[in-house]
Amino acid sequence: MADGAAEFVVVANRLPVDQATEPDGSVTWTRSPGGLVTALEPLLRRRRGAWVGWPGIAQDDTDVIDEPVQLEDIEMRPVRLNTDDLVEYYEGFSNATLWPLYHDVVVKPQYHRVWWDRYLAVNRRFAEATARCAGPGATVWVQDYQLQLVPKMLRELRPDLTIGFFMHIPFPPVELFMQLPWRTEIIEGLLGADLVGFHLPGGAQNFIILARKLLDAETSRGSVGVRNRFGVVQNGDRAVKVGAFPISIDSADLDRLSRGREARRRARTLRAELGNPSKVLLGVDRLDYTKGIDVRLRAFAELLEEGRVDPADTVLIQLATPSRERVDAYRLLRAEIERQVGRINGDFGSVAHPVVSYLHRPVPREDLISFYVAADVMLVTAQRDGMNLVAKEYVACHGDLGGALVLSEFTGAAAELRQSYLVNPHDTEGVKDAIEAALNQTPEEGRARMRALRRQVLTHDVDRWAMAFLSALDRSGG
Ligand code: ADP
Ligand code: F6P
Repeated sequence: MADGAAEFVVVANRLPVDQATEPDGSVTWTRSPGGLVTALEPLLRRRRGAWVGWPGIAQDDTDVIDEPVQLEDIEMRPVRLNTDDLVEYYEGFSNATLWPLYHDVVVKPQYHRVWWDRYLAVNRRFAEATARCAGPGATVWVQDYQLQLVPKMLRELRPDLTIGFFMHIPFPPVELFMQLPWRTEIIEGLLGADLVGFHLPGGAQNFIILARKLLDAETSRGSVGVRNRFGVVQNGDRAVKVGAFPISIDSADLDRLSRGREARRRARTLRAELGNPSKVLLGVDRLDYTKGIDVRLRAFAELLEEGRVDPADTVLIQLATPSRERVDAYRLLRAEIERQVGRINGDFGSVAHPVVSYLHRPVPREDLISFYVAADVMLVTAQRDGMNLVAKEYVACHGDLGGALVLSEFTGAAAELRQSYLVNPHDTEGVKDAIEAALNQTPEEGRARMRALRRQVLTHDVDRWAMAFLSALDRSGG
């Protein structure tokens, strides 16, 4: 597709494909599947779509110009990041400043002016790449905290575009956000959009309050709830809509795959490999300090110590995908989690059967589904999480109405999944009680809870999320 021809453009830090250079110098692309691409693929195909994003590798060769690549009918527009960009924009400002600040300062955010300068520069590069490929009057959907300055930059370059922005992580309370030395610039950046979306009404409210406080903007008074879905922030002569759109998963697809014979067979094999314990607990996360992996390991260890869980008959599987491994806090976290796992296995495991089975790698989707199917209790104990798709995936995989979900109140998913075993991850005794209750629930109670959870997850899927956002954006008259 020529420059200036795309009718619909998604802009995200990552492309939905990863680039790699083979030893012979040839370039290959592998799909990195995610909910977002699944939901937007049909639309991207129908509407001459393009996706602007980073191809997943550092590229220091400044002479090479990024060429668009047509993959599976979607035009990929790579934005090149060099090693300094990755250190200062991605690992630095995005993941050592904004990420901890927006997740309730679970670790201390670092504020460095050079990181901010690089964040500005890289956001500008994304905005310029988008301005180049978008056709006249196109719709552009910018994703997430790495690109909060893009809406304003893009509007300055291309006032003809309709611009939406969605925040995939929590948007913090005013008292925390005010720490950020560049707080006004971030709010101004987001207000370049016609519609700014968050998972929860609380995030939308925080944003509206900040726009009023920092920019003296006129804002609508109505609460941003289910009935009164949009707030409005007046930004000069433009009214910016602000709303809540909880993201979801491709529920029907997971439901179908998890009911399949192959998934069931793999789940049985998995349990057999674990020694056919009577109870299997499961955690599935990126190895991130917001996920509360330490919380569940501590609770589990204490339940074993107190004799409330039998180590001979119970296994906790923890799948942890490596993530942001060059950021200090992530390195420290890995060491701590592996220490806890080692200690629990040393104290309670046997040579043949560890009581915690830990994998530090991503697993293929078919395997992940069979882990979900096999697990009696799913543990989601995040200290803070914008949504947490894992919780919804687990529910989608239990068409048998078996299983139980222990879910942190501090996830976006908790607002929808009220029939789970809700826990405060800061309250270790409460987490222990909830795990014990989930392990010992009667089949009737488990079925009633799972039926209600599934009603929510199966009727609120990722398509519904994308369509709700895009139709609100259409109506915003940008
Ligand atoms: P986040 O976006 O913060 O990583 P979510 O729970 O919202 O957290 O989404 C994580 C996604 O990554 C889910 O779709 C989940 O299936 C997938 N995932 C997490 N851990 C693994 C793993 N070890 N192997 C494969 N997929 C994983
Ligand atoms: O949901 C937050 C998020 O940062 C997404 O933007 C991203 O797809 C995912 O988590 C994984 O993070 P990263 O791209 O840093 O590996």
